[in-house]
Amino acid sequence: MTEAARPRSHGRVRVSVSAAPRDLLEERPRLAGAWTARVVTLFPEAFPGTLGLSLTGRALAAGLWALETIDLRTFGEGRHRNVDDSPAGGGAGMVLRADVVAKALRQAAAGTPAARDRWPVVYLSPRGAPFTQATARAWAAAEGVTLLCGRFEGVDQRVLDHFAVEEVSLGDFVLTGGEIAAQAVIDATVRLIPEVLGNAASAQDESFADGLLEAPHYTRPAVWEGREIPAVLQSGHHAEIARWRQAEAEALTRQRRPDLWAAWLARQRRDR
Ligand SMILES: C[S@@+](CC[C@H](N)C(=O)[O-])C[C@H]1O[C@@H](n2cnc3c(N)ncnc32)[C@H](O)[C@@H]1O
Repeated sequence: MTEAARPRSHGRVRVSVSAAPRDLLEERPRLAGAWTARVVTLFPEAFPGTLGLSLTGRALAAGLWALETIDLRTFGEGRHRNVDDSPAGGGAGMVLRADVVAKALRQAAAGTPAARDRWPVVYLSPRGAPFTQATARAWAAAEGVTLLCGRFEGVDQRVLDHFAVEEVSLGDFVLTGGEIAAQAVIDATVRLIPEVLGNAASAQDESFADGLLEAPHYTRPAVWEGREIPAVLQSGHHAEIARWRQAEAEALTRQRRPDLWAAWLARQRRDR
């Protein structure tokens, strides 16, 4: 691996800040087997971004997971390191070149397992399959993930086909680039790594964990603007509280997410 092409890492592992990355924290080795996100991006400076804060940031600093950015510009063509060109067939905008992206993806593949269930290779894209909690669970169980952040009109299709890149979407809207989407999916995944979310039980109680949305939360003061905390939550009866939360979760899901509700009912029928 050439020095210029080496991934730039964040957190406890390696961090560097130029097109010729160097290891700034090399005296603090990565914890063996730490789950790793490798992000191919034109904007490595966008990372770690919000991932450097709070729970994910502390876990990153502790080496419980690792973040590496691969600067797509490094692989650009010519004096200006061009990474994009006009779309074949005409039309607005620019498209990221297959040959440039291919070099970055080859770099990202170095040292990773070929099996995609052990290391998914993903292009963040509005055309992709929706990212869900199930995706986050599957990725958290892998050794790491490579995320390709698009820009402009997107990426030349041939490179996606050639590397069998999976397309994953954050939702039915169009972002300017894949970096925010990458941070969102990394955040959702990293917090499912058992050592990262200190209180593992809280992940089990969250929305989507059992296919339902979560029941409402309340805290002090007991009365606010004339609104009281539901009495059952102050009763101290754990079984009743659990029943109330389950009923609220079911009612909310039925009302707000008929798709999740139908899937939950089907699962209940199947498991009966
Ligand atoms: C302006 S968008 C390109 C949109 C593309 N021309 C289309 O219509 O599908 C630029 C980049 O932002 C990222 N992006 C935009 N919306 C996204 C979404 N909903 N989920 C994930 N990534 C998204 C993708 O990486 C994409 O290549």
